[in-house]
Amino acid sequence: KSPDLYADQNGSFRPLNNSKGLSGGAIAGISVAGIAGVLLFAGCLYVGLLRKKKEEKIQLLSTVREDQLQQVGHAPGDIKTLDSAGTRDGASPGLTGITVDKSVEFSYEELASATDDFSIANKIGEGGFGAVYYAELRGEKAAIKKMDMEASKEFLAELKVLTNVHHLNLVRLIGYCVEGSLFLVYEYIENGNLSQHLRGSGREPLPWSTRVQIALDSARGLEYIHEHTVPVYIHRDNKPANILIDKNFHGKVADFGLTKLTEVASSSLPTGRLVGTFGYMPPEYAQYGDVSPKVDVYAFGVVLYELISAKEAIVKGNNSAADSKGLVALFEEVLSKPDQTEELRKLVDPRLGDKYPLDSVQKMAMLARVCTHENPQFRPTMRSIVVALMTLSSTTEDWDIGSFYGNHGLLNLMSGR
Ligand SMILES: Nc1ncnc2c1ncn2[C@@H]1O[C@H](COP(=O)(O)OP(=O)(O)O)[C@@H](O)[C@H]1O
Ligand SMILES: *[C@@H]1O[C@H](CO)[C@@H](O)[C@H](O)[C@H]1NC(C)=O
Ligand SMILES: *[C@@H]1O[C@H](CO)[C@@H](O)[C@H](O)[C@H]1NC(C)=O
Ligand SMILES: [Mg+2]
Repeated sequence: KSPDLYADQNGSFRPLNNSKGLSGGAIAGISVAGIAGVLLFAGCLYVGLLRKKKEEKIQLLSTVREDQLQQVGHAPGDIKTLDSAGTRDGASPGLTGITVDKSVEFSYEELASATDDFSIANKIGEGGFGAVYYAELRGEKAAIKKMDMEASKEFLAELKVLTNVHHLNLVRLIGYCVEGSLFLVYEYIENGNLSQHLRGSGREPLPWSTRVQIALDSARGLEYIHEHTVPVYIHRDNKPANILIDKNFHGKVADFGLTKLTEVASSSLPTGRLVGTFGYMPPEYAQYGDVSPKVDVYAFGVVLYELISAKEAIVKGNNSAADSKGLVALFEEVLSKPDQTEELRKLVDPRLGDKYPLDSVQKMAMLARVCTHENPQFRPTMRSIVVALMTLSSTTEDWDIGSFYGNHGLLNLMSGR
């Protein structure tokens, strides 16, 4: 009876193909009676656990690898050879044939020393899945996201997307580490997240033209993953906390932990678990779990409303949770009125003062309104949103330049002409 028991234990820790070593140990364990047996068993358990850790990591990363290979069109057979080669060669686990293309694997020691042992002073953000730390890594500024082992799904999703997809308006991944926790290493984006610029204290308010630019940049990032990658992705967590602002005040889409791969053929797939953030989820997703690129379009519309108003996606009432209201509903109320202009002015971020062209704000509000249309079919694609924002951006620049020329004209006038 006992050998079976041991074999069961082994089976749960190690793959079937090379469990000989341990079951040998197990048989020896039974033949030696009493304490010696128990000790040996404990030893086996320990070794088993150690190996399990290594294999976990290899399995974790080979999933990423597998996907890449499938994308390039390799047969599944190739993956197997790669995997077994990696597992057999115990000398450098995790590296043989399992390196993730274009990403560097860092050691825990290196990341710890780059972040001053993940000190609180280095912490620059905390989202749904982990804390983010500032790091100086190999002479470069970097940001490191530290996630629990439980977040392996999100870790893998992000690693997969960002090793395969590269664009000016998507945050760049430098590398990763799987040791104790899960780590993702990104290029450092100087000006943090958009949420902090809209609502954080101690920041200059973003000028209107910068807001239009950031809208255009993040639209381009989303358009890219919706239309120009194979496979195509849906971000599913688009919001100001996941849009980063670089040193030139351009926007980059970040946080691909919830990103979903979509089959090219189907435009809408039901999903198992509802993920994302309240206030940004369209009705068809919140109610029926329908996922399509239009989920991102809706969330993008909410972000546009936030750029206009600096209000949160869910506006809290002053008394209880009962009187909180969605930003979408708040704007909808105003935009459906015939005399919207004055009402709209009241919703504009007070920190902008009167330094905004109402015409441009109005156009962005109209764009946000179609993006957040109840029916996903009536929402535009990210591609047409990019076109619309390019037009808006060029006229907004005109507005800024116009005022500049205006001053010039004024100067000429003043100088006696
Ligand atoms: N590359 C980066 N450069 C600068 N700050 C970053 C970077 N990546 C993330 N952050 C900061 O950390 C926060 C959380 O990052 P995010 O990737 O959204 O993590 P989570 O998955 O936990 O939500 C961001 O809102 C931002 O403030
Ligand atoms: C956004 O940035 C601010 C300032 O760095 C930070 O405190 C906050 O945690 C960030 N938001 C998220 C969701 O991480
Ligand atoms: C919140 O407070 C303001 C003024 O203090 C009041 O006019 C308004 O009606 C209140 N809103 C709600 C929903 O209670
Ligand atoms: Mg986030």
